[in-house]
Amino acid sequence: MGEKICMEYREFGKTGFKTSVIGMGTYYDPGWIVSAKLFRTRPNLDRHLEAIRVGLDNGINLIDTAELYGSESIVAKAVKGTKRDDLFIATKVWRSHLKYDSLIKACRRSLKNLDTSYIDLYQVHFPNGRVPIAETMRAMEYLVDQGLIRHFGISNFNLPQMIAAENAVRKYEITSTQMNYSIANRKLEADILPHCMEKNIAILPYYPLAHGKLSGDGSWPKDVLSAIMQKHGIKKPTTVALAWLASRWNGIFPIPRASNPDHVRDNLEAGSIKLDDADMKMLDSAFPPR
Ligand SMILES: NC(=O)c1ccc[n+]([C@@H]2O[C@H](COP(=O)([O-])OP(=O)(O)OC[C@H]3O[C@@H](n4cnc5c(N)ncnc54)[C@H](OP(=O)(O)O)[C@@H]3O)[C@@H](O)[C@H]2O)c1
Repeated sequence: MGEKICMEYREFGKTGFKTSVIGMGTYYDPGWIVSAKLFRTRPNLDRHLEAIRVGLDNGINLIDTAELYGSESIVAKAVKGTKRDDLFIATKVWRSHLKYDSLIKACRRSLKNLDTSYIDLYQVHFPNGRVPIAETMRAMEYLVDQGLIRHFGISNFNLPQMIAAENAVRKYEITSTQMNYSIANRKLEADILPHCMEKNIAILPYYPLAHGKLSGDGSWPKDVLSAIMQKHGIKKPTTVALAWLASRWNGIFPIPRASNPDHVRDNLEAGSIKLDDADMKMLDSAFPPR
């Protein structure tokens, strides 16, 4: 065990709850999902459990899963022994379960898989044009009223879809959006990022390491990368990628995949690094928005 990293915590949107600035994702891969769902096997279970526990032991309290991933029960196992109130567990409902009754049933299944009485953040995984968003939001509000979820959010919604969802909510507010966002993919900065900043809607960037591409220095301009790593004593390019997201705006909480304990250990480093304006300028011009 190396030295403990001093993890930064920030309020997650308007929830009043402080989560670690770096979270953990638990989507493994399509083959793994097929094994889990069809054959009821969980390849690499021990390694996945250990990876999540390394994060928990070092201050990560934000974990993302989804009914689709087949990993809700792994999260349940990994968090045994951690005080429930200290955790922020986010899961997602699949797009085929967005009708009122179907969404409520899906939520009850996820609660069972997660072995918990409430979900901190329940997210619509993808929009579904065949179900009126008002119906989905009504079900989300019902779940909050019942105490089964604390907050709800969306994922993979473009800005007009996002605004339609916000307008469909009556009593509560949309807490967050989960989107593909990394220094290598800055599309969201054109519209969704400014909108979220204005409304204080948290962003959970998925593919924060561009699905692993940003782990090698081949994807980076070498001079910029080494200047920033040296200045902050950073050990790996992945830390720069995660710190870039977390330094962009306080409402951004990257969720790199937690499947390898060593990688989770590496990624902790980003939880205590704040890049300054000069660093951000250098990185922004090396990776202009496309
Ligand atoms: N809402 C959505 O539609 C959606 C879609 C995709 C993903 N997600 C969520 O976002 C999370 C992250 O996405 P992702 O896992 O696909 O992409 P990612 O975190 O950008 O990249 C994961 C890849 O990077 C590697 N990696 C992680 N840390 C590393 C390190 N320190 N050094 C070297 N390699 C490292 C991982 O390898 P190892 O596995 O070996 O560590 C894996 O191959 C998912 O787990 C899931 O929770 C959401």
